[in-house]
Amino acid sequence: MHLSRRGLLFGSAGAAAVSLAGCGAGEETAQLTGFTGIAMPTDTSERWVIEGKSLEDNLKKLGYDVIHQNAKDDIDTQIKQIQSMVDEGVEFLIIAAIDNKSLGAVLAEAKNQGVTVISYDRLILETPDVDYYASFDNYQVGVLQATHIIDRLQLNEQSGPFNIELFSGDPGDNNSQYFFMGGLDTLESYIYEGKLVILSGETEQSPTSTKAWSGDVAFERMEGLLKDFYEDEDLHAVLSPYDGISRGVVEALVDNGYEPGEDDFPIVTGQDAEAQSLKAIKEGTGQTETVFKDTRQLASTVTEMVEAIVNGGDPEINDRGTYDNGFKFVPSLLLEPVDVTAENYQEVVVDSGYLTEDQIDAGQA
Ligand code: GAL
Repeated sequence: MHLSRRGLLFGSAGAAAVSLAGCGAGEETAQLTGFTGIAMPTDTSERWVIEGKSLEDNLKKLGYDVIHQNAKDDIDTQIKQIQSMVDEGVEFLIIAAIDNKSLGAVLAEAKNQGVTVISYDRLILETPDVDYYASFDNYQVGVLQATHIIDRLQLNEQSGPFNIELFSGDPGDNNSQYFFMGGLDTLESYIYEGKLVILSGETEQSPTSTKAWSGDVAFERMEGLLKDFYEDEDLHAVLSPYDGISRGVVEALVDNGYEPGEDDFPIVTGQDAEAQSLKAIKEGTGQTETVFKDTRQLASTVTEMVEAIVNGGDPEINDRGTYDNGFKFVPSLLLEPVDVTAENYQEVVVDSGYLTEDQIDAGQA
């Protein structure tokens, strides 16, 4: 049974023992119990459902009480869910935001109650009330995707020119800009040189963005691009930031006569190592790359953060100067993403126990 935190006054984030409101120094203190609220953003992408569950299981194994909710892409629902977690007296919030700028008010309230706020995978912006950020090296994700395109088109050996189109993620998710910057910075010199040509001219984050990371939105944009610019020209590559988007892109390519598995099928990248995309990578029927982020590791890292604070220590941090949320550089713990292709998916994804070969063959986790 957790202690209700309502009406209690906490010290700074990370304090293990806190004074009860109204008690003088040296009087009764309340030990943190680890009571945690987990706020996940969507259930349309596999990872958030799996990670929400892992976080919940990990924390419960430590004997902590947990409230776990998924806001299914609705910003107001997420705010309400977080508010009710605060009202219930959570000591920790682990939040993967739907919209990174909409949580200021509810987090101010959380801070008043002394809650430690951990921004999970997606950085929460424009509020001082975020204590820690745990994610992957998001810029590196874009670098890996772009490097795959450079390798597959042999841009260092071939003179080209090759046609490429760029996709970015949801504009409300801070990660989108990092993926996009990592990709664009890596491709930039080839674009200047004229080896890579973007016929649409769409090179900024806004026109390339994909609302809610939706495959359907990506399908529509790709259809439009193919009609407008590629009736008489071949497309050679698509920089796509996430598997769900990649599958929408591939669907539009197939719809317009490109044949998966043929040599002239455009190189399409991805991210998250989703079973359905790995199936395509393995069988050569769509995208050729994804970026694996070991989300089990992220969930256990964040569990360890909570545990460290409950036990009176400080959580492990490995970056203090990259993730500026508009108020401060949020102390971060960043994990490494891994490039996955048909050549190494077994070693990286299957041998590590993330997905079984059967799940990949079925295209479903
Ligand atoms: C991002 C996340 C990606 C992908 C995407 C769509 O925030 O970093 O790994 O999951 O959301 O859900």
